[in-house]
Amino acid sequence: MRVFRSIAQWRDARKALTGTVGFVPTMGALHAGHASLLQRSVAENDVTVASIYVNPTQFNDPDDMAAYPSLPTLDLDLCESLGVDHVLIPVREEIYPDDYRYRVEETELSRELCGAHRPGHFTGVLTVVMKLLNLVQPRRAYFGAKDFQQYLLIRGMTEALFMNVEIIACATVREDDGLAMSSRNALLTDASRRLASRLNRVLRLSESDQEVFEELERLGFSVDYVVSRFGRRLAAVSVAAHQGTVRLIDNVELDGN
Ligand code: PAJ
Repeated sequence: MRVFRSIAQWRDARKALTGTVGFVPTMGALHAGHASLLQRSVAENDVTVASIYVNPTQFNDPDDMAAYPSLPTLDLDLCESLGVDHVLIPVREEIYPDDYRYRVEETELSRELCGAHRPGHFTGVLTVVMKLLNLVQPRRAYFGAKDFQQYLLIRGMTEALFMNVEIIACATVREDDGLAMSSRNALLTDASRRLASRLNRVLRLSESDQEVFEELERLGFSVDYVVSRFGRRLAAVSVAAHQGTVRLIDNVELDGN
């Protein structure tokens, strides 16, 4: 496995690659959810590229970015064990030589749901994903259905801008108690970790969005939204963490999956 910190060196190496390239962009602190994307890419492509980059432009809250976990050695060990061929770990100055003057903006869905609570978040996501896709030029790129709005916006961007990449959604990987795996789960206190396990069950078992909203608030979550759309019920909540609060998102298919 080769690790690239320099974009110039990566671009040289990319020229020499042949066969189909699969790509998995991440922000590191990798867990079994990320591993499932990497495994699928390794299975479906000749070459798999992963990126680890905590993208500053998608954090609307500086404390959230400062608290974001970083485990670079473990991340690289996991990538290696899964058969990843190349890992990009770029630095801010090289990803944003334009100082974020150029942006990819979607003007409807990006402002709803999570976007309504995190202004600018999806513009940061779309811009960095566009840059990474241009650098990696994959045939396929893999995203988690856990971040369903993100997946829809990225797929929409690649279609609207005629990009030559297939965007593939992968099922949400969960802990045994149903909590969707997330790098941010490590920041939860014991009490909020126990509370967090209720989120998925309430999303599945309650009849209406309103009922889910009320039940989550009653349990002690601070609820941003519960909405049924795209054949799914989607929710975002906050719970207490060691420092401040942590935002959790989840969604379930409405036909009972
Ligand atoms: P990150 O949160 O590190 O997630 C990287 C990818 O892993 C995303 O596609 C996400 O949906 C997927 N993922 C996370 N948890 C998952 C789970 N429990 N099951 C399945 N897939 C899961 O999402 C980002 O990073 C960033 O926004 C990024 C796309 C890298 C742009 O900066």
